[in-house]
Amino acid sequence: MGLVSWSNLAVLSCAALTRAVNGAQIPLTPPLSSHFLKSTTPAQWDFNVTPDLNSTSHFIFDTVASLSQHWTNARYRNGHNIVPGTVPLGTLLYHGTVKHEVPAAPEWTATDPEHSYLFCLSAPTKDGSSSSCWHLTLVVTRPLKVLDFDGSSAAMMYGGSMDTQDIVTWGEVKPDWTFSERKRINELCEWGREFGLDGFVRMEMDFEIMLCDFTRAVEIVSFLNLNSSMKGGGHRPPSKSPGRKPSFELAPSFAWPNDGPSSILQYRVIEAGVWHNTYPGETRINLDLNGLISFYDTDLFPSLAVARFGQERWKHRLQGLSVVDSKAFQTRIREVLEQIRHPGSGIDWSTLIRVIVDRYAERLEILQYLLNSTSTADQAKRVQGHLRSMVVPYILHTSVPNSDFTNHSWALPVYEYCASTHTRYISSTPSILTRMTKSESLILRSVQEVSKEICRVVVGMWAEGVELGLDAISPASLPSLKFESVKIINAVRRWHERTEGLMAWLDWSVWVKCRPACGYEEICYLPTWPYIPGRGPHGPHPPRPDVGQSRVQAQLQGADDGEEVSVLPQPKCIRRVEPFTGI
Ligand SMILES: *[C@@H]1O[C@H](CO)[C@@H](O)[C@H](O)[C@H]1NC(C)=O
Ligand SMILES: *[C@@H]1O[C@H](CO)[C@@H](O)[C@H](O)[C@H]1NC(C)=O
Ligand SMILES: *[C@@H]1O[C@H](CO)[C@@H](O)[C@H](O)[C@H]1NC(C)=O
Ligand SMILES: *[C@@H]1O[C@H](CO)[C@@H](O)[C@H](O)[C@H]1NC(C)=O
Repeated sequence: MGLVSWSNLAVLSCAALTRAVNGAQIPLTPPLSSHFLKSTTPAQWDFNVTPDLNSTSHFIFDTVASLSQHWTNARYRNGHNIVPGTVPLGTLLYHGTVKHEVPAAPEWTATDPEHSYLFCLSAPTKDGSSSSCWHLTLVVTRPLKVLDFDGSSAAMMYGGSMDTQDIVTWGEVKPDWTFSERKRINELCEWGREFGLDGFVRMEMDFEIMLCDFTRAVEIVSFLNLNSSMKGGGHRPPSKSPGRKPSFELAPSFAWPNDGPSSILQYRVIEAGVWHNTYPGETRINLDLNGLISFYDTDLFPSLAVARFGQERWKHRLQGLSVVDSKAFQTRIREVLEQIRHPGSGIDWSTLIRVIVDRYAERLEILQYLLNSTSTADQAKRVQGHLRSMVVPYILHTSVPNSDFTNHSWALPVYEYCASTHTRYISSTPSILTRMTKSESLILRSVQEVSKEICRVVVGMWAEGVELGLDAISPASLPSLKFESVKIINAVRRWHERTEGLMAWLDWSVWVKCRPACGYEEICYLPTWPYIPGRGPHGPHPPRPDVGQSRVQAQLQGADDGEEVSVLPQPKCIRRVEPFTGI
């Protein structure tokens, strides 16, 4: 029944828009708010109302914006999204091994051969003479049905990178099984069989697919006997534990030798990962956002809101998931996977999100730079010009300050247009809303809230600049304005803080760069597992054996450890031509 009045509203608002367009940009009257679907309280458009402290919209926005991209997922290793997807027909997958046998059990395949070649290991022989290994190339013969775990979900380490897989497979986080790769892949594949899943997508140095059945939906392109540049197995040869992923054997104490052929090979893997650093990322995996499940969904997983409270983002994990919420997850994932298709609304969410990131990423960065180098009132005009240009599509002809400056109320329509322009049609069209999946509603909300916060801050600063007489439009329309340097300098100081605050809240990884920029012979790189130091709860290596049991428990529960500092990866330049140093 509600739908009837909704569509009437939509029609009305359409008519109002048409009139406005035909009638030379007359601002909409009555005020825009009354056209909103969930009609707004006055507080909704108030420059002083900041996002809820416990809001996760910025996390949902950023993680969805970063799906299949190496950079952000190397920075924030603990994944929070599980997304169904397909790998298209004709895609090649690679598998390196010691023997000339197509795996009969689930195994790991790489999307780039540089990655699988690291596991193309020569079988140990008595005299150490053999140096040949087997490299299998497969081709996908029908769209592979996969489930994607975001974050560095193949990073075998403590600290949370395996959490989403644990929840899927075992219903709870299992730190003791962090290194149980064989058990993990077998049980994941077993679990996925019911839904016809062919594999699971994860990321470490590069992307990989845990392939459940090497005889289903793939054919052999070649199975080549290659010269191996690495001897099998590191400290414990893989032959002692057949079928285990070699890196499992290597992980706890392994360090690639940083010289000779192996360092160029390890650089090649990092380089292949870097190809997928930024949007659109690893495009061989087509993700279906209509079926996305995010552990940042506070409606579905309220227990995690409590667990995350006061934690820095890189420490967010799923250990605090309650039994009830874990059950809710199982219900939701079945719902997602049992559907053949999720036709959804037809909105291309990743493109919509990209539009917003593109519009603001560089401009906010430059704003931050300008504010950092502004110390005089005259220089502040440059900032004001930048601010104005960011919101110019929303500045109505009538958007000029009246005598009441208290809360920039004259600028509220600018704020509202800026914040809602990309989602207004979607959120006010009943036929779209009714087709949207739960995942889409979640994404929509995150886009709305993120847009709103960007516009609150940017329009808020612009409006203040107008009131201070900095803007091109102010002096003529407001003869009473005085150009007061002290006020302006103070305002610029506040703007600097607000801009930093906004950027910290958004936390887009595109702003994480090597500064100064790398030289031509270098690339900017975020240390990725297994090239990260550290031991204990967040490091790639298990806690020291000499620590007592209670200490180990404390570490597993996330207690602080002296070696944690290195954990939120910081970008650095490494060489891309010989000598390959820096990794
Ligand atoms: C802004 O301030 C004016 C006057 O103080 C008040 O009437 C109006 O309700 C305020 N608007 C908002 C959105 O707070
Ligand atoms: C094969 O690899 C070994 C080292 O594992 C190396 O000594 C040898 O020269 C390589 N052979 C070829 C043909 O590249
Ligand atoms: C945020 O979440 C914490 C933990 O659940 C809760 O104690 C707090 O009251 C919440 N704060 C707000 C502003 O909702
Ligand atoms: C701001 O300026 C300081 C000092 O000049 C500099 O160290 C810092 O890197 C600058 N920050 C940005 C974001 O440009």
